[in-house]
Amino acid sequence: MLTNLSFILTSDQMKLLQNLGILISGRGSNMEAILKAIKKQKIPINPTIVISNKPNARGLKIAQRLGVKTLVIESKNYKGKRVQYDKKIISALEQNGVTAKNGFICLAGFMRIISPYFIRKYKNRILNIHPALLPAYPGLDAQKQAIQNGAKVSGCTVHFVDEGIDSGPIILQAVVEVKNNDTEKTLSKRILEKEHVIYPEAISVIARKKIRLSGRRVRMLN
Ligand code: GRF
Repeated sequence: MLTNLSFILTSDQMKLLQNLGILISGRGSNMEAILKAIKKQKIPINPTIVISNKPNARGLKIAQRLGVKTLVIESKNYKGKRVQYDKKIISALEQNGVTAKNGFICLAGFMRIISPYFIRKYKNRILNIHPALLPAYPGLDAQKQAIQNGAKVSGCTVHFVDEGIDSGPIILQAVVEVKNNDTEKTLSKRILEKEHVIYPEAISVIARKKIRLSGRRVRMLN
């Protein structure tokens, strides 16, 4: 079982591990890349829960197959009640050990804006991946924006979540060339391959505490 890393760590070491919660809405390919990297012992973190706001998210089955507990907390009845919904998520995270003291949260294709309440509670403990080189092309359809703007390069960014849209401190980025004949689909595919590399890598440096945040700048330690 992935949820129990005791096959590689002693129980004392387990106590020192931080817990990871992953929030998804759909395909879950970034979540899968993260969980597989944990399984290969590349990230010292304990994935305790995957939560989806959509009951039919494909990622739920993948998480289950990888032995990670899943939960559906539907958001469709919470229009205009952002904090109320986020409190349900927070309570589920806490019940699974993902606390503001001992947890990290990865947004992995979670198609909801999270409230300042949630973000302040887990300050610098929520990460997101975005399919563009931020601060270029924040928000929806980032790959389409890059093509329409004639960008020669785009890529992806892992960043801390702050109260703006895709505006938090940048942790890692990867560059992808935009080719003359690229469509939104072909560019998205090549960017996604890089996402699957840098998201696990970013969580790994954070879990190993090899990172310093000063203002908006994230510095990697050796
Ligand atoms: C990815 O392109 C990611 O950059 C964006 O949403 C998409 C999620 O894909 N935030 P998946 O669910 O991880 O496959």
